[in-house]
Amino acid sequence: MENLNIGICGWGNVATGLFKVLEENNTIIHQKTGCNINIKVIGARRNNPKCDPGDVIIERDIFDVLDHDIDAVVELIGGVDTARELILAAIKKGKHVVTANKAVLFHHGDEIFLEAKKANVSILFESAVCAGTPLIKVIQEELSANNITKIAGMLNGTTNFMLSEMEEGSSFEEVLKIAQDKGYAEPDPKFDIEGYDAAHKIGLLSSIAYGTPLPPDNFHIEGIINIKKIDFDYAKELGFSIKHLAVAKKDDLNIQLRSHPVLVKDNSYLANLKGVRNGIEIDTDLLGVIHIAGSGAGQEATASGLISDLINLMKTNGVFSFPDFPDSLNTIDIAELSFKYYFYIEAMDEPGVMASIASIFAENNISIETIIQKESTDGVSPVILITNRYFEKNVNKVIKTLDSLASIKTYRTIRIED
Ligand SMILES: NC(=O)c1ccc[n+]([C@@H]2O[C@H](COP(=O)([O-])OP(=O)(O)OC[C@H]3O[C@@H](n4cnc5c(N)ncnc54)[C@H](OP(=O)(O)O)[C@@H]3O)[C@@H](O)[C@H]2O)c1
Repeated sequence: MENLNIGICGWGNVATGLFKVLEENNTIIHQKTGCNINIKVIGARRNNPKCDPGDVIIERDIFDVLDHDIDAVVELIGGVDTARELILAAIKKGKHVVTANKAVLFHHGDEIFLEAKKANVSILFESAVCAGTPLIKVIQEELSANNITKIAGMLNGTTNFMLSEMEEGSSFEEVLKIAQDKGYAEPDPKFDIEGYDAAHKIGLLSSIAYGTPLPPDNFHIEGIINIKKIDFDYAKELGFSIKHLAVAKKDDLNIQLRSHPVLVKDNSYLANLKGVRNGIEIDTDLLGVIHIAGSGAGQEATASGLISDLINLMKTNGVFSFPDFPDSLNTIDIAELSFKYYFYIEAMDEPGVMASIASIFAENNISIETIIQKESTDGVSPVILITNRYFEKNVNKVIKTLDSLASIKTYRTIRIED
């Protein structure tokens, strides 16, 4: 296929970015691939003052895009329910689908892939995870001969930016405001700071690496809202940095899926990726550990991934190889996983406070690797400790005890990622 006729649904940030990049880089795309991508129609319920679509046909109802003579639909409306309806309708009409929408695939991926397989059309989604930074095709194609044992990374630019700034001394509230002013965080930042966006992305990566279902059946999701800037100082003192990590890890017949803050060694690759960049580590048997980092959002970065999917469609003539995994893998509950833990505990400043905190851990058969008592202020004594490695279900017993004691003013705990 040398010519691909497409319809774009949605006319926001990403769609207009795709339009502009296809106009500006058309020659370079043709020179490198021999392919022509023609935008035949755009589904836009209103004009976008930031982009003039020229003489491309505009449909005010996005579903009318599907009635045009196009090979593929690029779904860029975001959200879940209407996007699902649109994608399923496109499949029914025999159109290939390219989407940047992680949320719809996370919640309805299995249904969408099944329908696409039946209709013999492709579903491509390179830009749904870390925009155009190549990950999906790397895992699906370049690493297809590898046994991948772990995929872990900072998959949300907003949280990585916020944590990097907090490490430099800003508070959570200050840095959230900066992220919103810079346009990194949405006016409603819940999706980013509560860990859902990163969870959606690792859910998609796990589905292509391990065949885990979409939606997944067991996923631990936690955000960064409880982390305080003082935690960075204590983490640093102990040789760690704090990151928000999304992880898919396979051992034997189990998969763990989790998206939560962690302490990582401060000299590690992931600890040193600062700011809005996304970064990922893939553990493979043939190539060892691979690192990939790049821009995780933005018009141009996302257009890069979308165009790579469109070119892939042309090169494969739309023939898509659907993965075929056995369904024997079990997604394990986080209570059954083991970690080392960082604890920050504020106790009433009484004689023997450190000993009494240590005894809470000892009573629950949890041994402590490091314990430090800080200077008391206002009658409160901060104690920082790192445990040895224990199952989460055991550590939960310590948490229950800390919750029940009047002498404990507050506490926080963060898992430590090996
Ligand atoms: N922004 C990024 O950097 C980035 C990176 C990677 C992936 N993505 C993904 O790309 C997709 C699009 O993101 P975006 O940033 O372009 O969002 P956006 O700027 O909000 O644009 C969404 C567009 O879809 C339209 N739309 C939404 N619901 C619609 C409906 N029911 N019917 C018709 N039109 C509808 C909106 O129209 P109105 O303007 O009329 O509401 C708008 O034109 C999302 O799935 C997002 O997760 C974004």
